[in-house]
Amino acid sequence: MAESMKGLKRSHRCTEVSNNNIGETVTVMGWVQKRRNFGSLIFVDLRDRSGIIQIVFDENDVKAEGFAKAETIRSEFVLAVKGTVGKREGAVNENLKTGDIEIRANELRILSEALTPPFPIEDGTNTKDELRLKYRYLDLRKPRLQKNIKLRSDVTTLVRSFMAEEGFIEIETPMLTKSTPEGARDYLVPSRVHPGNFYALPQSPQIFKQLLMCSGYDRYLQITKCFRDEDLRADRQPEFTQIDMELSFVDVDDVIDVNERLLKKLWKDILDIDIPTPFPRMTWQEAMDRYGSDKPDTRFGMELKDVSDIVKECGFGVFTGAVENGGSVRGINAEGQGSMPRKKIDKLVRMAKDYGAKGLAYLIINEDGSYSDKSSFAKFMTDEEMTALADRLDGKPGDLLLFVADKNKAVYDALGALRLEIANNLNLLNKDVYNFLWITEFPLLEYSEEEERYVAMHHPFTMPMEEDLELLDTNPGAARAQAYDIVLNGTELGGGSIRIHQADVQEKMFDIIGLSKDTATERFGFLLTAFQYGVPPHAGLAYGLDRLVMHMVQEDNIRDVIAFPKVKDASCLMSEAPNVVDEKQLEELCIECIKQEE
Ligand code: AMO
Ligand code: AMP
Repeated sequence: MAESMKGLKRSHRCTEVSNNNIGETVTVMGWVQKRRNFGSLIFVDLRDRSGIIQIVFDENDVKAEGFAKAETIRSEFVLAVKGTVGKREGAVNENLKTGDIEIRANELRILSEALTPPFPIEDGTNTKDELRLKYRYLDLRKPRLQKNIKLRSDVTTLVRSFMAEEGFIEIETPMLTKSTPEGARDYLVPSRVHPGNFYALPQSPQIFKQLLMCSGYDRYLQITKCFRDEDLRADRQPEFTQIDMELSFVDVDDVIDVNERLLKKLWKDILDIDIPTPFPRMTWQEAMDRYGSDKPDTRFGMELKDVSDIVKECGFGVFTGAVENGGSVRGINAEGQGSMPRKKIDKLVRMAKDYGAKGLAYLIINEDGSYSDKSSFAKFMTDEEMTALADRLDGKPGDLLLFVADKNKAVYDALGALRLEIANNLNLLNKDVYNFLWITEFPLLEYSEEEERYVAMHHPFTMPMEEDLELLDTNPGAARAQAYDIVLNGTELGGGSIRIHQADVQEKMFDIIGLSKDTATERFGFLLTAFQYGVPPHAGLAYGLDRLVMHMVQEDNIRDVIAFPKVKDASCLMSEAPNVVDEKQLEELCIECIKQEE
């Protein structure tokens, strides 16, 4: 039976009790981690969000009735215990903060009994993810998740105070809104009052924060949910949180400056780690050429090298063909991996193909410096060509050189992915190293084969580089944008840009991405109109808070920093959302569902 806590007040969290309290009476409340019976003594490890403390029930201290109660205690019961703090009589537990003390109970209340949990409430057990997520409220009792969730709260608290000091004002923008142009699918909410009409949940507050600049708020901050109906990955959720900001009368350096100071402070105050500023900056083109990625992990080398000039006239059709077709041949050096078993190499070949390359060619340098005849294309090359290839990649005896020949995009994607895969296999990714990096000068546009038109690489309000404005008329695909991403160890933490605030440039941009005047007016008319009433030059940036915290706590999955995350198919295993609704609700919304064939 659940008892009340009437007359008892918690005096400490479990691990707030320390040596300094010896001899004092304290009251703690929490969950039972473990109970051990030794005849006239019962030991209980009591847990709350601070950690664990040992409680001793001694027949001589608690009244008989209390001791009988203590004998019924099971794991995860919720207790209130009043007792005296003493030095531990048994062995000191070095693993516990409270390992050298215990509370000798003289009063016990069982505030709640508990079923046996479906998995042990402790870190490091290999419970299946599905089970953990179905009972998320139990999973959340574990120390690791509690630490992550607490650190997340520390981050938002610190962001708010730092940004307030920097003159930012926190302003909320609507959740029920019109489609925002971030390029993913929208989550829609039907309107009851306007049958057949829908709100869209925001993919980001982009348009509203730009409007706030028009309204003169100057420096805006919001920590807010965003919704994107896209394929999920380890660092993506359908609803996630942005730390979103926008600033007026600034240039790229101003945005970068405030953000570097923010990140420096987060790492220092929360992790006690000094990260050097300013962060390196790299253009998008350099990132692609050196790392095959616009979010390069610079914790290790294995950089891409262009060998097109060496092989353009060689006897291997795959290589010459790629160069002739406007593509390239590039390679990476998996140092010391010359003895990689065939099976593993085949896996790399499959991976290259998954990333869009037609194949992967490789060259193994024997320990004596000769080229292994296992190399996939040696027979088509002259000795000079082989030597030039090896030299370009700084190949040494025992190295494995990997080459992809294709359109540049496929070459970058495949080698960029292989580089990460190999580094991962070789344990080159040190989590204690934090390599921040700004990527700048992104292409303004990307050509969508699917839609047969240009789409904005960031979003259509991003300002081209001044020196590339003319290209908008002649060769828009070559224009670069005043856009920047902040990258940490191969993850895009955040991104932003200088915005277009000139009507003619905006019009041109819409034109290039195939948005007619009418469609532009229909979608963003209010923004375009607002700009006619006096708009300051402005710029902004948004972080994925979940990703930021994920790196700070060194987790590999974004789910481990979100209290109630969703799984790959965007469902919640605990609440079973999404789910069917009452016919009546649908009727009110004038919605009829089309039955889908199985
Ligand atoms: P962007 O689309 O680059 O920019 O988003 C900013 C950051 O949000 C995070 N993010 C996500 N995190 C988890 N799950 C997702 N599905 C997800 N999608 C994005 C990333 C990303 O860097 N309005 C612009 C910002 C601006 O221009 O000011 C925007 O939303 O960390
Ligand atoms: P094939 O002529 O298709 O049998 O290929 C000969 C070798 O070249 C194989 O090892 C292929 O994996 C490799 N190869 C094929 N296409 C490419 C490509 N686009 N880039 C690099 N290597 C390739």
